[in-house]
Amino acid sequence: MPKMPLRQVPAPRPIFEKSSPGRIGCNLPVADTPAVDMGAVVGQTRDDLGLPEVGELEALRHFTNLAQINYGIDTGFYPLGSCTMKYNPRINERTAALPGFAALHPMQPVETIQGALEILHGVQEMLKAITGFPHISLQPVAGAHGEMTCLMLVKAYHESRGEGGTRRVVLVPDSAHGTNPASAARCGYSVKSIPTDADGNTDLAALEKALDGSVAAFMVTNPSTLGLFEPNIARVCELVHAAGGMVFCDGANMNAMVGTTRPGDHGFDCMHLNLHKTFSTPHGGGGPGCGAIGVVEALEPFLPVPIVEKTSEGYRLVDDRPATIGRVSPFFGQFLMEVRAYTYLRAYGKERMADISRHAVLNANYIMARVRHVLPPAYDRPCMHECVLTAKQYKKFGVRALDISKRLIDYGFHPPTNYFPLIVPEAIMIEPTETESKETLDAFCDALIAICKEAEENPDVLHAAPTSQIVGRLDETKAVKDLDVRWRKPE
Ligand SMILES: Cc1ncc(COP(=O)(O)O)c(C=O)c1O
Repeated sequence: MPKMPLRQVPAPRPIFEKSSPGRIGCNLPVADTPAVDMGAVVGQTRDDLGLPEVGELEALRHFTNLAQINYGIDTGFYPLGSCTMKYNPRINERTAALPGFAALHPMQPVETIQGALEILHGVQEMLKAITGFPHISLQPVAGAHGEMTCLMLVKAYHESRGEGGTRRVVLVPDSAHGTNPASAARCGYSVKSIPTDADGNTDLAALEKALDGSVAAFMVTNPSTLGLFEPNIARVCELVHAAGGMVFCDGANMNAMVGTTRPGDHGFDCMHLNLHKTFSTPHGGGGPGCGAIGVVEALEPFLPVPIVEKTSEGYRLVDDRPATIGRVSPFFGQFLMEVRAYTYLRAYGKERMADISRHAVLNANYIMARVRHVLPPAYDRPCMHECVLTAKQYKKFGVRALDISKRLIDYGFHPPTNYFPLIVPEAIMIEPTETESKETLDAFCDALIAICKEAEENPDVLHAAPTSQIVGRLDETKAVKDLDVRWRKPE
């Protein structure tokens, strides 16, 4: 058993149940305008709305207590593989909150937003240097959006060469993130799966067999979702190019390579980055993120607009590009995310950039080495920034990867990713990121080792987990498909 469960908090009562008629939580000055009869104007009074009536302190405590039962990177280790839940340095928030950025209106004349454009241009230039691509667009607002934008560029490219009608297939590895085939299908392509070989790499023979004049592109994640660097990447690119296709790099795993090696040098034609992973801007449910893309010269004419350009008179937004695919997001994309990414990049600096990927890779390999006797790697070779382990040996005790993950919650850790990539049985995918200390990694490994012992000796403890939280095991399908968190006044 863990020495100390993470938190034992009573389930909070909804604020509605703390309500008492006549209590007021804010102090407004006496109105100097005539009172309006809301019932007459909008057909409802304040009473009809059923708003909670609580004092200021009660409201403050309510929300502070709610915030304390949330689990985030600020409260603990968050090794959610593929998601790069890294620490978002506070200085990013300070710069993003500067009034000159935060209060900017997206329709201000260009002469009045030169500082903002300098930031966007600066991010573009730094991402060029990091990825090795000569052109960058900051317009897409999520990783999946970046993937789709790249495929739209690939489509425009083939159409410009009169091959739009024949190149109708996009190849995707069987280990790919679900957004890859979804992006291809969204662009009207049919998707063919390419198997992974016994070492965890692209099966080159299968790839060669699939390549013909119908292929528009191959989408490769490097390092792959298995946490492995694709050693044949140059050959993969050569083969696809020889068949007239383009190669897209899913760069969601760029945290393994930043400052160390550049996809633009590996032979790729385009890539997306997740600034909300690699460059420490916060994740949010569905955004706001930034799925910046990098492209080679051949795709540059089709880039979405606007592009930020530096001229002798200052910065300008370029919209008049005849072959562009158009806009993929309003205004400048997620501007404040760019401010955060800019801050992060400048704070690290060119010289220290490689520390990010080196430490991320070191941390993942450390975890893999410490727990491999209880959770062996799916492919037995050094990993990159995350390791994919298998819990299949515990199936004979009736224990699944999910049970191990749920038990980790009782030990005070956020669970890692489970059952992804789909090709690994009972997958546990751990991404520690670069910012965690050895003590934290050790505590996490100790917990995993202890849980695996429990799996053999007392599997029911795992089946019941988590028991230290407000809620236990949820029906996850129902929670997604049939979520109902409304409070209703008792009859
Ligand atoms: C490998 C990979 N590709 C693409 C994506 C999609 O990124 P986003 O969630 O920003 O759309 C993810 C997200 O987890 C990912 O892990």
